[in-house]
Amino acid sequence: MSCDDKNCDDKNYDDKSRELVMTPTFRLAAALAVLVSSTALVSGTALVSGTAVAQTPPDGAVLALSCAGCHGTGGASPGSIPSIRGKTVEYVATALTEFKTGKRPATVMDRLSKGYSDAEIKALAEHFASLR
Ligand code: HEC
Repeated sequence: MSCDDKNCDDKNYDDKSRELVMTPTFRLAAALAVLVSSTALVSGTALVSGTAVAQTPPDGAVLALSCAGCHGTGGASPGSIPSIRGKTVEYVATALTEFKTGKRPATVMDRLSKGYSDAEIKALAEHFASLR
């Protein structure tokens, strides 16, 4: 539309664009578009994480790399932080679970352990127990 046209004053133009935006059909379509895209996002996320858990169980050796800075290489601590190398699965898993739930008081492990799922705790415990 050209505004050289006599009918095309500002008011007229505004009224027309408002008409388009506020059309009930347009509102419905917009609402549906939001609904559909958010639903797709949620189910997509669930699908991806479900697949990841099913196909790649946590790798204890990889997860354990982040413990080495404090507990020493392979869990054999050179300092005052306790060694966790060769402890039983139950010992490590129980400690991590109790740190996570707050049952066992700690300075850092309470916060750290919250980052690991039960499956990851099990994988970590099995990894350290397997080292002799
Ligand atoms: C920032 C240093 C740090 C990191 C990283 C760290 N820990 Fe610890 N860990 C500690 C300290 C300090 C303690 C003693 C409890 C406390 O004060 O938090 C401890 C205690 C533990 C204990 C209990 C040992 C015992 O005999 O009582 C376990 C099990 C443990 N950590 C496992 C891990 C695992 C598994 C990781 C890696 C996922 C890890 N920690 C990473 C510092 C760390």
